Amino acid sequence: MVRTVYVNGAFRPENEACVSVFDRGFLFADAVYEVTSVLSGRLVDFKAHMARLRRSLSELGLRKPASEDELLAIHRELVSRNDLDEGLVYMQVTRGAADRDFLFPPDDTPPGLVLFTQTSNLRVRPQAETGIRIVSIPDLRWQRRDIKTVQLLYPSMAKTEAKRRGADDAWLVEDGVVTEGTSNNAHIVNAEGTLVTRDLSHAILHGITRAAMLRLAEENDIPVELRSFSLEEAQAAREAFITSASAFVTPVVEIDGRPVGDGTPGPITRKLRQIYIAEAERTAI
Ligand code: PDD
Repeated sequence: MVRTVYVNGAFRPENEACVSVFDRGFLFADAVYEVTSVLSGRLVDFKAHMARLRRSLSELGLRKPASEDELLAIHRELVSRNDLDEGLVYMQVTRGAADRDFLFPPDDTPPGLVLFTQTSNLRVRPQAETGIRIVSIPDLRWQRRDIKTVQLLYPSMAKTEAKRRGADDAWLVEDGVVTEGTSNNAHIVNAEGTLVTRDLSHAILHGITRAAMLRLAEENDIPVELRSFSLEEAQAAREAFITSASAFVTPVVEIDGRPVGDGTPGPITRKLRQIYIAEAERTAI
């Protein structure tokens, strides 16, 4: 099926859409993005994604491409034109097209705006039942991972290396502690039944799914500790899992060849996935 995508003000068939070769997103990875999940044709946690987009834009001095209401309208129109029932909307904002120069272009350069949809089974997927296997890889990304930039080469390399080693994904490790997954946040449940997740800083992306999951954990009386954890602590944990807009809450059952807990998805992870999906369905717009 030929999708309809959105490029700089117009909806176009994907095979006719184009962006300038001088777009700074293309030349300098000078761009930020958001991925919003769609359930039953409705957007999950849209407001939170917009709040993070605003923050990413302001941290980099990028211009807002449109108002929040306009962006919501574009998201909805794209979901409707593509008949998307379940999947993702990808949105990218760039510093626009300008002669190639390391210096930022003039402030009045129009920002670039691209959106497309991707069909995906988010609720029912094999990995949620079996769990995923993780290998650890050094975190060699830049120091502002809280900004959702499109500089995704290193995470792509890490995920490809994980697959090459027979695993599903990688957890990135820096100074002896886990930062996050290649495209998700990392969490464990320790022997005391406490959910341990890294506190927010420049070291990790402030995941929208992480925030929603933590709210639900607290509402359901699951104790939470916000702090870093080492790979050894994760391997000795009772449960481990990841969160993201595409994985929701997905169990991790093996880390560097060692089973986590009994090597099957744990009860707290399963419960969190279930209540996260219920809440996402209930609040999607
Ligand atoms: N990735 N950490 C990183 C490095 C990520 O790229 C992502 C999201 C997350 C989770 O954030 P959220 O819960 O807001 O999706 C954490 C998206 C899904 C992607 O690149 O496809």
